[in-house]
Amino acid sequence: MSIDFQKHFPVMLPEVLQSLAPRNGGLYVDATFGNGGYSEAILEAADCRVIALDRDPSVRGRADDLTKRFDGRFEFRPGRFGDFSALVSETIDGAVFDIGVSSMQLDEAGRGFSFSKEAPLDMRMSQTGTSAADLVNTLPEEELADLIYQYGEERKSRAIARKIVEHRKTAPIVTTTELATIIYSVIRRTPHAIDPATRTFQALRIAVNDELGELEKGLAGATDRLTSGGRLVVVDFHSLEDRIVKNFMKQKAGRQSHVSRYLPAAATTDNVVFCECSKAILPSQNEIEKNPRSRSAKLRYAVKL
Ligand SMILES: C[S@@+](CC[C@H](N)C(=O)[O-])C[C@H]1O[C@@H](n2cnc3c(N)ncnc32)[C@H](O)[C@@H]1O
Repeated sequence: MSIDFQKHFPVMLPEVLQSLAPRNGGLYVDATFGNGGYSEAILEAADCRVIALDRDPSVRGRADDLTKRFDGRFEFRPGRFGDFSALVSETIDGAVFDIGVSSMQLDEAGRGFSFSKEAPLDMRMSQTGTSAADLVNTLPEEELADLIYQYGEERKSRAIARKIVEHRKTAPIVTTTELATIIYSVIRRTPHAIDPATRTFQALRIAVNDELGELEKGLAGATDRLTSGGRLVVVDFHSLEDRIVKNFMKQKAGRQSHVSRYLPAAATTDNVVFCECSKAILPSQNEIEKNPRSRSAKLRYAVKL
């Protein structure tokens, strides 16, 4: 399927460039290549090199374009940023993460990320492994409810899990719209309110792709590879991700932080790694108007000692 690249705006691009501050001769990692918007802009901003990672094999064509255009300065390495240390052995001057699902993945019929498009209930970014359909058709009711509650922050998680299990006794749930209809039988849709399927779909997507585990491993892996003065820049889109990013940066900056269940105990001066870390930077009103998908974005960056 051909993708209209013009339709996909890189989120908070000017702020990303300002925070990453690419310089001539530097080596940067774009840990979430997607449509390559960040990689391209970094390569245009300085005479530097970029290594790009992505777990989704469908980005390969776009990566090949950049390899040709920026001869010798761009390299694509397929894989998960949770394997950062294995994928990138070089010392780097900066790394940028644009967490979550891309507009192409959301818009592409057949990937199953969107409840508004009839498609197989898939949601696998890497197109391998356990799908969302596997989870809803096999997990015990209580585990399903916990997953929807923890990753979707859905208060009606128990009722939704009960309905799913009731439904799958007669036939497996195979499409996005089937699951959405089950959710609507528990929570009615109301005009102007967030679609009731949003939180359950988010929860399944996070679980299918182990998004929070990947984020923790990716941040740690990238930080290990940063040179002194190197920059870690992260754009995230919901509170679960942002909590991990915020606590990671705070802790590595030696500040006492609220201890997350995803991270080990409070910071001590022994593990001070960052000399500076930013507060959350938000997209401009102008960007939100042009690209409503940017409205929940938050950018945070940190600079290594
Ligand atoms: C929001 S998009 C990035 C868009 C990109 N910044 C641009 O300007 O076009 C996120 C991308 O990260 C990829 N991704 C998400 N989690 C990943 C992971 N753990 N490892 C590698 N790639 C991942 C997705 O497949 C998707 O292509």
